[in-house]
Amino acid sequence: MVDTERVDINGTPVGVSCVTCHGPTPETSWAGREGGTFHTGLEVVHGDLSCESCHDAVDKTRLHLSDNSPVDMLDAMTLCAQCHGPQFRDYSRGSHGGMTGYWDTTKGPRERNHCVECHAPHAPAVPRVSPAPPPIDRGVHE
Ligand code: HEC
Ligand code: HEC
Ligand code: HEC
Ligand code: HEC
Repeated sequence: MVDTERVDINGTPVGVSCVTCHGPTPETSWAGREGGTFHTGLEVVHGDLSCESCHDAVDKTRLHLSDNSPVDMLDAMTLCAQCHGPQFRDYSRGSHGGMTGYWDTTKGPRERNHCVECHAPHAPAVPRVSPAPPPIDRGVHE
């Protein structure tokens, strides 16, 4: 679904599904026809990847791996893992991506964030920040 920034009578956000414009086949697709423009505000800052490095060429409800096998949108982690092996390995062992909930899982559930909850897939780099307040210079005494 693409957010339209509109809400319905109940205040629920209104979305348009991908297949409204894309597909299911190229022949029935509105997008791709001459003059079609959309997603114009979408900027991808992710190496030099093209849209189709990740999104299926025809079925826009899906992503794909490098061997072209389909991946569900909600299963994007398999896709990330294919190019970011060390981070995925660290994530699998718990040293990247953090966790909340219970350490002892017999006492309660443990929750893990998905890669895309921290890294927007279209612009994944963590921005540089200035620490505030600045670090205390322990050599200076007033
Ligand atoms: C209102 C119509 C509309 C909707 C809804 C829409 N698209 Fe698009 N999309 C377009 C148009 C128009 C283009 C640009 C023309 C083209 O090259 O196909 C485009 C291009 C793209 C492209 C880049 C070109 C390509 O073929 O790879 C991707 C990726 C894409 N859309 C993904 C999506 C996804 C994912 C969704 C749903 C979350 C979606 N779109 C929903 C109209 C739409
Ligand atoms: C690195 C892989 C990757 C690339 C490159 C990429 N996408 Fe995506 N895109 C994703 C993933 C993953 C999601 C699902 C995000 C989620 O689940 O929150 C997504 C979601 C979307 C959506 C639906 C959500 C939204 O932002 O509206 C659209 C539309 C879309 N992509 C279009 C594009 C277009 C157009 C391009 C190229 C200009 C592109 N994508 C490039 C991985 C990618
Ligand atoms: C097809 C290969 C490919 C896929 C799939 C892919 N990436 Fe990337 N990713 C790259 C490349 C290439 C760069 C740019 C590396 C650079 O500039 O040094 C990058 C950069 C990044 C960065 C910034 C790295 C930095 O040093 O700051 C993050 C974070 C990231 N990707 C996360 C993701 C996540 C999350 C996904 C899944 C939604 C994903 N990537 C999918 C190839 C990929
Ligand atoms: C809880 C948030 C969170 C989750 C979940 C997460 N990351 Fe990260 N990731 C970060 C932060 C923060 C950094 C920046 C670390 C730094 O700059 O030292 C980072 C850095 C990265 C980098 C840049 C290179 C590096 O190691 O510093 C890549 C690539 C990356 N993550 C990929 C992934 C992938 C793939 C997943 C899912 C398997 C994932 N991340 C899950 C927060 C997260």
